[in-house]
Parts: sequence; structure tokens; C-alpha cells
Amino acid sequence: MSGLHLRLATDADAPALLAIYAPYVERTAVSFEEVVPGVEEFAGRIRECNERWAWVVAELNGEAVGYAYGSLHRKRAAYRWSVEVSGYVDERFHRRGIARALYGELLARLAARGMCNAYAGIALPNEASLALHRALGFSDIGVFPRVGRKFGRWHDVAWLHKVLRESPPEEPLER
Ligand SMILES: CC(C)(COP(=O)(O)OP(=O)(O)OC[C@H]1O[C@@H](n2cnc3c(N)ncnc32)[C@H](O)[C@@H]1OP(=O)(O)O)[C@@H](O)C(=O)NCCC(=O)NCCS
Repeated sequence: MSGLHLRLATDADAPALLAIYAPYVERTAVSFEEVVPGVEEFAGRIRECNERWAWVVAELNGEAVGYAYGSLHRKRAAYRWSVEVSGYVDERFHRRGIARALYGELLARLAARGMCNAYAGIALPNEASLALHRALGFSDIGVFPRVGRKFGRWHDVAWLHKVLRESPPEEPLER
């Protein structure tokens, strides 16, 4: 898409990206977070994410319109080559290929950092996110029934998986 620019996010992006995220926290169960985090907290998440994985932002004609990032799957050592991924696009810019572009960049960066498996946990219902991940080559694993409760109702979470690389790097990667 012309005018679309992808890059790693920095602290300075926190206010704009939080503005994209906040409505999904406040009005939907897409995020299981219940209180919108502060800008400082959000900036800290971006920083910590980029130390180990990647947090990618999409700018359309200079305006941040979406982001996608990798995060911890589970803490035990053997899980270290597996990563969870998620992304949010400003509602005004849906269905223009922004998430597809963001994930392309994110998954390439995660693979370059040695990540071998990407997992997405999608709170249901969320047809758009299911369709996005399937379109990007993720396969369905299964569903955790009624694992989250928000706004007084239970939500199932569907899990999907994509192999990013067959095996981890032989040598430690430069950070
Ligand atoms: C899911 C989300 C990130 C998709 O972002 P997007 O920029 O609109 O997606 P794209 O335009 O890149 O779509 C890529 C593909 O995903 C699928 N897709 C995306 N939205 C869809 C929808 N509403 N219905 C059906 N398929 C959809 C299609 O296959 C699409 O390809 P196509 O347009 O060529 O048919 C966006 O809807 C969003 O921000 N939703 C709220 C937050 C969220 O649910 N995040 C995921 C948390 S797990």
C-alpha cells in the first residue's frame, strides 16, 4: 500500500499506539486487559518487547495506524524459541492490508531473532483475527473453553500456530 511505512516502535510511539489500543480494552473482550494502562507503562512494554522480540508499528502517511508485537509464551527455558503474537489496527483503517503488512514484518524479525514458533491466542468471537491469522498461514490448534471473563460473560480463546523456522540458531544472536 502506498504511504505505508513499517518500523520498530520506540517509547515515543506510546501515546499514539495506546490511543489505538485503549478502545479495544474499554469496549471489547479482544483484549482481556480491563484497565487501560498508563503511557509510561505502555512505553515500558514496548521497550521490554524490543529487547527480546519485536514491536512493529505501521505508519500511513506519517500517522501511526496499527502495531503488532511478540511477547512471552511461557517462562520455562524450553519455551524460549516460542513467541506469542498480537496486533491492533485503528478501526478507521481496517481491511486495507495493514495487519498483513505488519505481521509480514513482525514474523520476519522474530525469525531473525531465532524464534521458531509463533502462537496467537484469540478471544472469541473475533472473526477478523481468526481470518487474518489463517490467511497468514497459522493453523488452528484448539480452543480453551470459557477461560476469560470480561463484562460479565465468559470467552473462549482459540489458539493458532505457525512455524517461523525449523530450528533455533546455533550461536547466540546479537541483541
Ligand atoms: C484483526 C485485525 C488486526 C485485522 O487488521 P486489518 O488491517 O483490518 O487486516 P488486513 O486488512 O491486513 O487483512 C488481511 C486478511 O485478514 C483477513 N481479514 C481481516 N479482517 C477480516 C474481516 N473483518 N473479516 C474477514 N476476514 C478478514 C482477510 O483474509 C484479509 O485479507 P483480504 O482483505 O485480502 O481478504 C483488525 O481487525 C483489528 O485490529 N481488530 C481488533 C484487534 C484484534 O482483534 N486484534 C487481534 C488480537 S488476537
